[in-house]
Amino acid sequence: MFIAMIASKLSRTLLRCHSTAAAAIAYNSKNVPIEQTKLFINNEFVEAASGKRLEVINPSTGDTICDVAEADKADVDIAVAAARSAFNYGSEWRTMNASNRGRLMYKWADAIERDIHYIAALETLDNGKPFDDSLHVDIPLVINTLRYYAGWADKVHGKTIPSDGGTFVYTRHEPVGVVGGITPWNFPLAMFAWKIAPILACGNTCVMKVAEQTPLTALYCAKLAKEVGFPDGVINILSGYGPTAGGAIASHMDIEKVGFTGSTEVGKIIQMESAKSNLKRVTLELGGKSPNIVFDDCDLDQAVAASHMAVFFNVGQCCCAGTRLYVQETMYEKFVEKMVEKAQNRILGDPYDPKTNHGPQIDGEQLNKILGLVDSGVKQGASLQTGGAQFGDKGFFMQPTVFADVQDHMDISTQEIFGPVMQISSFKDEEEIIERANNTNFGLAAAVFTKNLDRMYHISTALKAGTVWGNCYNVLVPQSPFGGFKESGFGRDLGEYALNHYTEVKCVTLAVPQKNS
Ligand code: NAI
Ligand code: MG
Repeated sequence: MFIAMIASKLSRTLLRCHSTAAAAIAYNSKNVPIEQTKLFINNEFVEAASGKRLEVINPSTGDTICDVAEADKADVDIAVAAARSAFNYGSEWRTMNASNRGRLMYKWADAIERDIHYIAALETLDNGKPFDDSLHVDIPLVINTLRYYAGWADKVHGKTIPSDGGTFVYTRHEPVGVVGGITPWNFPLAMFAWKIAPILACGNTCVMKVAEQTPLTALYCAKLAKEVGFPDGVINILSGYGPTAGGAIASHMDIEKVGFTGSTEVGKIIQMESAKSNLKRVTLELGGKSPNIVFDDCDLDQAVAASHMAVFFNVGQCCCAGTRLYVQETMYEKFVEKMVEKAQNRILGDPYDPKTNHGPQIDGEQLNKILGLVDSGVKQGASLQTGGAQFGDKGFFMQPTVFADVQDHMDISTQEIFGPVMQISSFKDEEEIIERANNTNFGLAAAVFTKNLDRMYHISTALKAGTVWGNCYNVLVPQSPFGGFKESGFGRDLGEYALNHYTEVKCVTLAVPQKNS
């Protein structure tokens, strides 16, 4: 999923000036050195117990970048033991002043900012996204998220409660314990930060399992976590596959909570594994099929630009992508034309080339899923306006694709495609579109474009989605909560809301001496 497009121009300029020497490596993937390829457990880089390694592929070429240690259940057990020991009552982490916990997080963010060109280059190598996006969207979001939650570290607190009788009652918002984080490949380091920042701010310890496709930036940041002084065992980071390493986390008897971002299918498995093991707390940020509703009274240029990016940002690999584009019938044809033109103007190619704004899909599996759904769209009678096929002969590039005249029952209108594929259909009026927009099992995001405030208020209230954007799309900041209704999951990442998921409320009732007044 996401995207702080709100990075200010000033901070962009500062970032550019930071390290011109490092920028040299950023534009040449061959010169990105990779040193951290082992599991990070108890503040050390170690091989997997089995000795196994897994290959990491460059999605823009299909070539192998390197291999990394492949964690399995045995490694999860070792990492959980380290995290448990770091969490034990009386440990350095548990007795650290909350403000110092925050300072460690600020220092980690500073170290990431210092190395931002290298980390952005590594993210692009591993994920394929344009270097400019890594540098100006993903990694700044990582830094901002860590800083936002660093500020919370000493502001998480309970209440005193006026009780009846001779007691003094107060609540403590305590860390949950050892937390497992399982994260995806579409925004590798940003999704890692969305989980680990509130985990640490609330005083938990963690075992993070990063996606097998994109482990490199989190492993590099493990080195920085050690450098800035996190105590042993607080942060553990594992590369490994889902059913093995991820499954071992979901079913572990000594993990108290799992935060997950990924597919709805795996989200359901994780919740079942929790029920079958120790009822660990689970929060799930899952798939989407978000409606984007454009009325003819909108600011046309604004709606065109945002509707395009709603689908094509990060080559469609966004859980909140606005792929169901509904355009009011009075301007439908004109809007379709503009969407096709913008899709055709995208520049595909080497993600280190500053001109490129459209990289590859993450792997062959995802590309094939997308091609299969495009095929179903054609067979079910949608009108393919542009694209529809693989691009080039190396890597996993997909042509920007636009379907018009899409009907609500078609697979391309109901299933998450997770690729650069837009589905457009027309609508007549408000009542019709509210019903159609909500007619989905998902509920992650939605958007409305109109200059009519009454209409904006009415529709944004009626839409069943965790996020509603008005006259914009994909605007995400660490301060605002993000998460789903329905099968898009439950719980919220980011904002003050996320803190609830990483704390337990303990109510303490103390008998106190009574005095006659
Ligand atoms: P996935 O849900 O399988 O992978 C996400 C994470 O879950 C990865 O770290 C993976 O290793 C882990 N995982 C996989 N199986 C697991 C299991 N049995 N137990 C524990 N952890 C497990 O997603 P995948 O296969 O990479 O993509 C499939 C579809 O999921 C995509 O086409 C897209 O529709 C959706 N997706 C949604 C994302 C989002 O941001 N909400 C991110 C990635 C994928
Ligand atoms: Mg999967």
